[in-house]
Amino acid sequence: MAGPDYDPVEVTPLRADEVARMRTEALVAIAATETVDALKQARLDHAGDRSPLALANREIGALPPQARKQAGRRVGQARRDVAAAIEQRGPLLEERAETSMLVDERVDVSLPYDRDPRGSRHPLTTLQERIADVFVAMGWEVAEGPDVEAEWLNFDALNLGPDHPARTMQDTFWLAPEDAHLVLRTHTSPVQARSLLTRDLPVYVICPGRVFRTDEPDATHSPVFHQVEGLAVDRGLTMAHLKGTLDHFAAAIFGAGITTRFRPSYFPFTEPSAEVDLRCFVCRGISPDVQTCRTCKGEAWIEWGGCGVMNPRVLVACGVDPDVYTGFAFGMGVDRTLMFRNGVADMRDMMEGDVRFSSAFGVDV
Ligand code: PHE
Repeated sequence: MAGPDYDPVEVTPLRADEVARMRTEALVAIAATETVDALKQARLDHAGDRSPLALANREIGALPPQARKQAGRRVGQARRDVAAAIEQRGPLLEERAETSMLVDERVDVSLPYDRDPRGSRHPLTTLQERIADVFVAMGWEVAEGPDVEAEWLNFDALNLGPDHPARTMQDTFWLAPEDAHLVLRTHTSPVQARSLLTRDLPVYVICPGRVFRTDEPDATHSPVFHQVEGLAVDRGLTMAHLKGTLDHFAAAIFGAGITTRFRPSYFPFTEPSAEVDLRCFVCRGISPDVQTCRTCKGEAWIEWGGCGVMNPRVLVACGVDPDVYTGFAFGMGVDRTLMFRNGVADMRDMMEGDVRFSSAFGVDV
């Protein structure tokens, strides 16, 4: 029957079922949005100027006045419902976006960092400096000499004359031409001669440096290695001063209580001469640990270097009066020291320059 809500024009968009369908469609679409952007799109589609409900709203004006009110109320209610749904959904999606951003952009400050690793100084360098420091603290000076050395300083001045049998003890790199009489120094002992020739007495010098011998590289040999030379020339120095100095050196590098022992030996530039052994700093030679000690191999002592009282012939060769001055000298292999001190099994690890080897020793300065 015709009534106030009778729609004589039968405008499809304004039919109750059609308005309900558009409303439901809009509400479903809004509820399905998962992001703020999707909701924006849903707002355009279902509440924008060109949305079905907005278009339907425009049709109202075409209705006869008696039908307008009913249709207007119906469409108006649907549009308000849609707007309310959008209004409700908005903050929910914004909060969700914020939460997922906090999760996605979370930074775990406890993760290991991936900056390029810094290099570190070579342990041979730092050990040489540490040794030098021990002597500098006693008032000694650091002396240096060249890698390419005069034959005379490497041998003759040290009482190793041309026909001395001990010349062949050290396999020497000779430099061409032969008559230049140059060698790659086979030990740091030429610095003894250099120091006596250039410094005022008394002389107390420590000299770490590179030395060369014609050895094939293997686990315990290298044609290039390092020594640290010590020389003291003063009035009244004896072998007791030498022993005391080396015991202090040993304790400073290997720990309190670590001492040295001497075994008789021969070097042309010292007389008397001795091999220096170091008390094993791991087992300290104490039973039963010493039996299974891998550092001294059950010996309780570790071979460390050579030493002796200055041969007067060397003092004379370097212009020092042996009736007034006496002295002592010692020489240790730095590479060997690092190997047994830090458990380096293969000498080649020290030569390769791989930063992974050096950095295992830490950033030592
Ligand atoms: N120069 C000797 C060597 O290379 C070591 C040494 C130095 C011995 C000083 C005595 C005194 O074998």
